[in-house]
Amino acid sequence: MLDVQNSLAAPQVIRRQDYRPPDWQVPEVALDFALDPAATRVKARLEVVRTGAHDRPLVLDGDGLTPLSVTVDGVTINDWRLEDGRLVVPLPGSAHVVETEVELAPERNTQLMGLYASGGILCTQCEAEGFRRITFFPDRPDVLSRYRVRMMADKARFPVLLANGDPIAHGEAGEGRHWAEWHDPFPKPSYLFALVAGDLAVNRGTFTTMSGREVELGIWVRARDLDRTHHALSALKTSMAWDERTYGREYDLDVFNIVAVDDFNFGAMENKGLNIFNSRYILADPDTATDYDYDAVAAVVAHEYFHNWSGNRVTCRDWFQLSLKEGFTVYRDQSFSADQGSPAVKRIEDVRSLRAAQFPEDAGPLAHPIRPDAYLEISNFYTATIYNKGAEVIRMIATILGPQAFRAGCDLYFERFDGTAATCEDFVASMEEASGKDLAQFRRWYSQAGTPRVAATLTHEGGRAELRLAQRVPPTPGQEHKEPMVLPLKLRLFGAETGRPLGDEQLILMTDSTETITFEGVGERPVLSFNRGFSAPIVVESDRSAADLAFLGRHDDDPFARYEAMQQLMLDALVASVAAGNDSSQDGGHQAVLAAIADTLDDPALDPAFIAEAVLLPSESFIGDQMAVVDPDAIFRAREALRRNIGRELEGRWRAAYDSASAAGPYAYTSAAKGLRRLRTVALGFLMASGAADAGALAFRQFDDADNMTDRQGALGALAGSNAPERVPALDIFYNRYSDNPLVLDKWFSTQALSARDDTLAAVEELARHPDFALANPNRARSLIGAFSVNQRAFHAASGAGYRFVADQLIQLDRINPQTAAKLLPPLGRWRRFDAARAARMRAELERIVKAPGLSRDMFEQASKSLA
Ligand code: ARG
Ligand code: ZN
Repeated sequence: MLDVQNSLAAPQVIRRQDYRPPDWQVPEVALDFALDPAATRVKARLEVVRTGAHDRPLVLDGDGLTPLSVTVDGVTINDWRLEDGRLVVPLPGSAHVVETEVELAPERNTQLMGLYASGGILCTQCEAEGFRRITFFPDRPDVLSRYRVRMMADKARFPVLLANGDPIAHGEAGEGRHWAEWHDPFPKPSYLFALVAGDLAVNRGTFTTMSGREVELGIWVRARDLDRTHHALSALKTSMAWDERTYGREYDLDVFNIVAVDDFNFGAMENKGLNIFNSRYILADPDTATDYDYDAVAAVVAHEYFHNWSGNRVTCRDWFQLSLKEGFTVYRDQSFSADQGSPAVKRIEDVRSLRAAQFPEDAGPLAHPIRPDAYLEISNFYTATIYNKGAEVIRMIATILGPQAFRAGCDLYFERFDGTAATCEDFVASMEEASGKDLAQFRRWYSQAGTPRVAATLTHEGGRAELRLAQRVPPTPGQEHKEPMVLPLKLRLFGAETGRPLGDEQLILMTDSTETITFEGVGERPVLSFNRGFSAPIVVESDRSAADLAFLGRHDDDPFARYEAMQQLMLDALVASVAAGNDSSQDGGHQAVLAAIADTLDDPALDPAFIAEAVLLPSESFIGDQMAVVDPDAIFRAREALRRNIGRELEGRWRAAYDSASAAGPYAYTSAAKGLRRLRTVALGFLMASGAADAGALAFRQFDDADNMTDRQGALGALAGSNAPERVPALDIFYNRYSDNPLVLDKWFSTQALSARDDTLAAVEELARHPDFALANPNRARSLIGAFSVNQRAFHAASGAGYRFVADQLIQLDRINPQTAAKLLPPLGRWRRFDAARAARMRAELERIVKAPGLSRDMFEQASKSLA
């Protein structure tokens, strides 16, 4: 029985080396939708052309589709067959017109792939393989077609009908229905297809491109959300101008539309001319969105817009090349955001999220190179590795080439591959050709998984300093042996006595396993500032003393390196107290940290936003990443002890910082005001940790008086993790005030799920039964389950109850929405990092998941790889 089930379920491995060009191209597509949530009819007319000399039939992908009819050149045929969902059509000649018709039920589509309904809006999501759930088609990114789309729907329920490209015609269709036709002149792969039908309001704008063309912009949302679209619209215009200025890339259609929906599997989608967004990355106003949310809206709007060139005009040959568009586009949106505010703070944030999400992935059972070699389900590969490590790889190329050659390489790449489906190799070769630099060894970044570790030892004797470097890439699943990587390392020496730099910043390209760099004429003892700006995505192992790290925390002129020195100082102190089983406040590690934080707070030259980053303690999970066996309880105790000590010993400074940041005046969304708000809430956190008698009241006052969500949520977060009497009232007030706003309710759920209190697991179990909890809404599922499973203390409760809760939820969610469920699995998969008792409990839950009846391919891949 089990065997039968397994063999039925056994999904097929897709391998990069098996790539073959398509047997048939489809230059022209006409789609005709009779839209209805319960029963939508889709007619597709494909002009197909045989490529090369072969006699293979036309094979069209399909997922859950049954053809109502199939015609070839206008004649109904019956010799088609279905194989594994695919429609196989024998064709005699080299060019034919193939027409099919199918029926769908969008309102029953809970996977949110293909055509589905979200709050009464009909919309699509096709990347990577959702188009095959709409119609039979060669659903692969190297089949590029011109689309003509006709939609018909009830006019009262669906007054707005949108698709890719430009609107061509519209009219009445009788019986209260209407129709619209859209045409996209740019050939595109099916994953970029989109349509939307709904009762939507629009915030319109215009953008005049660098060649003087007028583009009509529209942000489409439900009428009640309209006044929260201004930030997105202005971010769109800023992005369009930035891409012209920075990359010379101009927009190419007459309209650019964005639609926001509440039910969405990820952030957003770059469909040609019709981006569809998770509403959390569009809607923002000061009362409901934090500064972090505002920044995320701008970054995602920019990201999707930038895809018009890096993704749409030049697309991917196959899904193994995903980082070609995602890594590059993340790099582009990171540079954009850096240009809008503080580049230093942006870099710190990006590195923090790389370390939080990508480093653990690279060190765990799901590690894969940025260009993977094999997958079961491509949806599982929209990962921090493909996106964020992919962006770091592009950043290293830019660093190695320098700005001019990098831009020349991008120009060459866009020009040469415009209108085609390209590979990562095409990108790297363009960079080589434009710069004359050899990137042969650098290509290992595309094929080797794992985070390189670099040991750096600096010695000094008689005017000469020697830096010895040794790199090692740890083994990852399927890659036991690794070759040395090319590492662009920015470094600089500072004089320990004078505090002054000894020479300029250097960029060295490390290519061997070990290298030694010599510095002559070094008169005073040098202190090493290393991997400045995080020039390579590596782990640095250096034996710098607490004194030297504190010195860099004070004197380093590279803001990232300065932040990093503070982090390392804190990390060393925390790891030492965890190792010593010591949560007391008396050890010297604490003293060095306290002094460094005091100096940072006292430095009048520093930007408050930078101070707020620099004084933040490393997260519990990042501390755990430094340990051979993670002990979540010991980490929590050590970190809390340090937090309390920092709060108590520097209480006067925190109050001063809090008061000066609070004096900023009414809300404004500017870099300066954002920095002050951030510092204010960081100071509040330390005051709460200090145990000061008035801290709860202070937090409640910030919560209650706030004229913006940043201050309000910051205070709520501080209260939610505390025992303060103000905690419950604040949570209740917050809930009642925002109970009709799903995005803010998500915050209410996640704030509680992230709480450091002892009773968090019980609270979360109860929240899962709350009437506002809904597994079917991905944002809501993530706000509770996703947030809880990164709560190191509660999720890793020694009883295993946290693991069981998450596994129960994921098994349920998998039946509704496999993609979103599978994304939430990795925290359970990291069992190897924990003690034997926890590891056994985590494994037991993974095994329970693998055996769940009807498990999806998505979940099977993640869970079985995690167990392997
Ligand atoms: N391409 C989209 C982006 O801009 C994300 C699509 C995610 N698709 C998926 N199957 N997970 O990042
Ligand atoms: Zn993207």
